Amino acid sequence: MSGHGTIADLPSLVEQMAIPRHLAVIMDGNGRWAKERGLSRTQGHRQGVVAVREIVKNSIELGIDYLTLFSFSSENWSRPESEVRDLMGLLKLFIRNDLAKLNKKNVKVVVIGCRESLTSDIADLLVEAEEKTKDNTGLNLVIAFNYGARQELTQAVKQLAGRVAKGELSVDEIDEAAVSAALYSNSIPDPDVILRTSGEQRLSNFLLWQAAYSEFVFVDCYWPDFDRVRLEEALVEYSGRDRRYGGVVTQNRAAGGA
Ligand code: IPE
Ligand code: IPE
Ligand code: MG
Repeated sequence: MSGHGTIADLPSLVEQMAIPRHLAVIMDGNGRWAKERGLSRTQGHRQGVVAVREIVKNSIELGIDYLTLFSFSSENWSRPESEVRDLMGLLKLFIRNDLAKLNKKNVKVVVIGCRESLTSDIADLLVEAEEKTKDNTGLNLVIAFNYGARQELTQAVKQLAGRVAKGELSVDEIDEAAVSAALYSNSIPDPDVILRTSGEQRLSNFLLWQAAYSEFVFVDCYWPDFDRVRLEEALVEYSGRDRRYGGVVTQNRAAGGA
């Protein structure tokens, strides 16, 4: 992890930093970022995509294994139609523009969320991104798109109930592992850190099951302003946390730790 970009210039920060295996991000504040500058919300979202490219690059350099980005929630459909259209358009643009580059960087794209209400052009692009990168072994880029944790849990319950009704599964076989496996995130480890920008301190229906032992880091800047320095500061904050999982022994991947 050393020798890349600004991190090499900040040895004091690096020494204090634990690199999470899985960083999940609620990218919030595009609208307020734009408003402060007298720009449209669309322009805020566009600048948000620039910050997405930045965090992907930085996550690769820092050796993070899984980066989950909350890019559109189940509840975001309630925004004005034109804004929803803009956000859909930006996702398409991002995949069309960046997929080849992500593939070259050995990034594996995984999409979590409900596919049912998406238009076929978007659904096809998501499948293409996953298919093209499925054998990659570098950063796992998890895009939470049309994602809602309650919807995810509801479909998991239905899935398990359906298997019980068909006689494929007994009620006693429904354990934590079975529930986890029925979620969109089935093969993805739980996030070590859930980071939210914009100053809001809530989950907004993000990863409710998976967040059981995640550390929360709330960053006081809008998403388009979230850069390498902000990321390193957030990781230093995470590194200082004692993760005990209900026990008495701290199990952090702190600097020098596993
Ligand atoms: C985050 O920024 C982007 C999405 C939710 C898609 P917002 O659009 O929520 O920005 P604010 O919170 O209104 O500032
Ligand atoms: C959460 O942000 C969803 C995403 C970042 C995609 P919102 O802006 O939708 O959340 P609320 O409405 O402030 O809770
Ligand atoms: Mg918001």
